Amino acid sequence: MNIQWYPGHMTKTKRMILANLSLVDIVIELLDARIPYSSKNPDIDEFAKSKKRLILLNKSDLADEHTTNLWKDYYKARDFHILAVNSKDGKIAANLSELVRTVMKDKIAQQKSRGRLTVSIRAMVVGIPNVGKSTLINSLSLMSKRGGKPTATADRPGVTRGKQWVKVANDFDLLDTPGVLWPKFEDPNVAENLAFTGALNDNILDNVTLATIFLERIATSRPQSLLDRYKLDEITDSQKLLESIAMKRGFKLKGNIPNLERAAITVLDEFRAGLLGRISLEKP
Ligand code: G4P
Repeated sequence: MNIQWYPGHMTKTKRMILANLSLVDIVIELLDARIPYSSKNPDIDEFAKSKKRLILLNKSDLADEHTTNLWKDYYKARDFHILAVNSKDGKIAANLSELVRTVMKDKIAQQKSRGRLTVSIRAMVVGIPNVGKSTLINSLSLMSKRGGKPTATADRPGVTRGKQWVKVANDFDLLDTPGVLWPKFEDPNVAENLAFTGALNDNILDNVTLATIFLERIATSRPQSLLDRYKLDEITDSQKLLESIAMKRGFKLKGNIPNLERAAITVLDEFRAGLLGRISLEKP
């Protein structure tokens, strides 16, 4: 698979993240729960080493629960605080506020001992494209509106004018500008995982090739998902599988030839929407 790499984006992004890091106490890093290794950019460990860190395994509603628990153990063992979430879920604000307070308990205790009544915690959200950063910020901001308090826009010392803060709780503010990290996809397996989940622009990839590689992976790890979803009689090689899926769905070109492009797009879309079941693509 030939995937284009645009280093220019990385420089701009790095500048944005570094410029805003000094404003926050904690960095909330979103990973895709289906690919918690492939969706992690190791650069953030370097950028944010002076900050408290929290990993959210987002889209956990689409991932296999048992595998997600293995990933939680994996990152906990590496000293990360971690929570599996679904950013579209309304309960996320309460769970996140609570965990953030736990992560920041030393700062809170220290400031309270100096006489501060409320200690406000400020956070930044980072993650690769399409991992759910805007959805998360939006859910948290809606939550604060529903609670009757308008979303705060702050004019604080050291804060660039016009910078937007979302008030999640009385003592928890989120920087409304998410840091977009570019994935590291030198490893072909990582590149494939990012492409399957839709983290890369589909226009730079050939759908039929991508879907064929995807079917090969799922035919080995989760054959029943394919048999059930596409009413197939048997698992064959992945090229034939794509043809069978096209024929079963009635995607045909002139002369009764299977429309592989349409079948490929369907398979990828249905996986991304969770219609093949809850599937994790990698284990720790
Ligand atoms: P980004 O800012 O990091 O680039 O990602 P964004 O929030 O735009 O989310 C990308 C897609 O992922 C959106 O779908 C969004 O709805 C979906 N998404 C985000 N978080 C979750 C989650 O926890 N679970 C599930 N199942 N989906 C999630 P979309 O198809 O592009 O848009 P829409 O049709 O849902 O609005």
